[in-house]
Amino acid sequence: MVLLILLVISIVLQILAAGVAVRLIRTTKFNSSWILITIALVLMCVMRFNEFATVLSERTDGRTNMIVIEWEYYVWVGVATSLCFAVGVFLVRKILNYIALREEQRRNSEKRLLSAVIRAEENQRQIISKELHDGLGPLLSSVRMSVSALSTQQLSDTQKEILANTEYVINEAVKGLTEISNNLSPHVLNNFGVARALNTFIRKLQPMCPATRIAFDPGNMQQVRFDPDREVILYRVVCELINNALKHAGAGTLTIDMRTERDWVTVNVADDGRGFDPEAESDGMGLSNIASRISSIRGELQIDSRPGGGGTRVFIRIHTR
Ligand SMILES: Nc1ncnc2c1ncn2[C@@H]1O[C@H](COP(=O)(O)OP(=O)(O)OP(=O)(O)O)[C@@H](O)[C@H]1O
Ligand SMILES: [Mg+2]
Repeated sequence: MVLLILLVISIVLQILAAGVAVRLIRTTKFNSSWILITIALVLMCVMRFNEFATVLSERTDGRTNMIVIEWEYYVWVGVATSLCFAVGVFLVRKILNYIALREEQRRNSEKRLLSAVIRAEENQRQIISKELHDGLGPLLSSVRMSVSALSTQQLSDTQKEILANTEYVINEAVKGLTEISNNLSPHVLNNFGVARALNTFIRKLQPMCPATRIAFDPGNMQQVRFDPDREVILYRVVCELINNALKHAGAGTLTIDMRTERDWVTVNVADDGRGFDPEAESDGMGLSNIASRISSIRGELQIDSRPGGGGTRVFIRIHTR
């Protein structure tokens, strides 16, 4: 009785497995190894069913010979099952290769999408920067010229003061505009590359944060130019790391080293501040933007930090093409 129950269970399971396998044939794009494994599973169903019928007939009329399939055919079915399984398993590497290929394709298309988004964002920034610089810039300059051309001789002291204030505000507006336009798309980066652009960025930043000494070593990168999209990504990433160190680390020293070797650029950004847990949840966008930017160009990013004052070290390596 137990044997009969077990046979019924195994037949049901076998039919389910065969059903799933048949449905997966299309998913595996009619992969030969999967078709063979499916056939083997279906044949096993037939065998289990035959065994069930045999055991049942033994119980009912005492006969021991096969009922549904003759013995010889039963052996053939067994041999075919073994063959299908054996060849199918040997060919299973194809399925694994297929899965790996699909995974690779998925990752590649994700990266392509990401770099397209980043490129579109940079293009947009460049357009806005150009519009501000070339459109609003000359307008403000001509307002400044007109205001300075006003004669102050017949003006009262109050009017002179208002005029001086107006000139001051216009000058500030021109300065602000240049700065915004430059932040949107740094002209030094476009014209002279990452090392010079970072140097300019740090020179402007240092006076605003005297508590942290920023040491920048551009290494052999001074005159080096590479793919503009990658230059922008590297520039933005290092700027955000510098901003983070100044904003959160409370560090005494921040060092940035750059090197290029053959087709690779490596950057180390290290501070001696309070450190943090890179795995911790954060509301900020900076670190996740860094990770996605670096991943979009298949670069390497390592953040070595822990809370407790040990500082933070970030290692970046990207390919230049
Ligand atoms: N160099 C660092 N030293 C200490 N803590 C850091 C450092 N860099 C990042 N952190 C910590 O990691 C968190 C996440 O940084 P992230 O750049 O993602 O966000 P944020 O700087 O807070 O905001 P956002 O960059 O969006 O303006 C920070 O809030 C900070 O606590
Ligand atoms: Mg940040």
